[in-house]
Amino acid sequence: MNKRKKYIFGNWKSNKDSVEVREWFKTFTSFYKQAKNLLTPDLEIVIFPSFTYLPLANTLIKEYQVPLKLGSQDISPFGKGAWTGEVAADQLSEWVNYVIIGHSERRNNFHEKDSLLQKKVEEALRGNLIPVYCIQDENTHIPSGVTIVAYEPVWAIGTGKTDSPENAGSVANSVKRNKNIKIVIYGGSVKPDNIDGFLQDKNIDGVLPGGASLDAKVFWELIKHVAGV
Ligand code: 13P
Repeated sequence: MNKRKKYIFGNWKSNKDSVEVREWFKTFTSFYKQAKNLLTPDLEIVIFPSFTYLPLANTLIKEYQVPLKLGSQDISPFGKGAWTGEVAADQLSEWVNYVIIGHSERRNNFHEKDSLLQKKVEEALRGNLIPVYCIQDENTHIPSGVTIVAYEPVWAIGTGKTDSPENAGSVANSVKRNKNIKIVIYGGSVKPDNIDGFLQDKNIDGVLPGGASLDAKVFWELIKHVAGV
């Protein structure tokens, strides 16, 4: 029987410079080399660095031969063209497989609304990128075409407080049943000492750590939990 696929997505937000990105990969690789068989194909491990470090991360993935994929933290709602400051799907698809859309930090600090997020999802799909669509609760609108949803309660982000696995599981269940979403992951202060509760819920397919993904050693610890070690 195939093992259920599990997802661990590290959102680096606006952190790290090129020296720190290199350090992260060096440390990550040192752990990976000691336990290569831990990273089986049923684990989907994706990191989301800032736009500027996507090419560097891509180079380091190849150089160190680590089974990581890349995602971006945002995407332009438009295609290529005269949109100063934006990064379009066709540019991103050179580097990434995934894109986070609708993170509450963007909704709250950059006033991104459902109509704009819908366009970003359309652009991602047009560029063959997989949107990781963030919802704040089960009532958040989800654009059509989305298959992966990240449930991230605003009050749990960067606060050290998590939702209970029971409530997160019930939100995941509701979204899967009512909105026909295939994959739901949980984000909000995920750490090695609280991850297991979320992984044990049958409706939660993985996690989206922010702070805990910045340290390669801690991220590796999370991976070990997801791998069931
Ligand atoms: P923290 O894990 O730092 O709470 O961040 C969660 C998050 O916002 C991931 O997108």
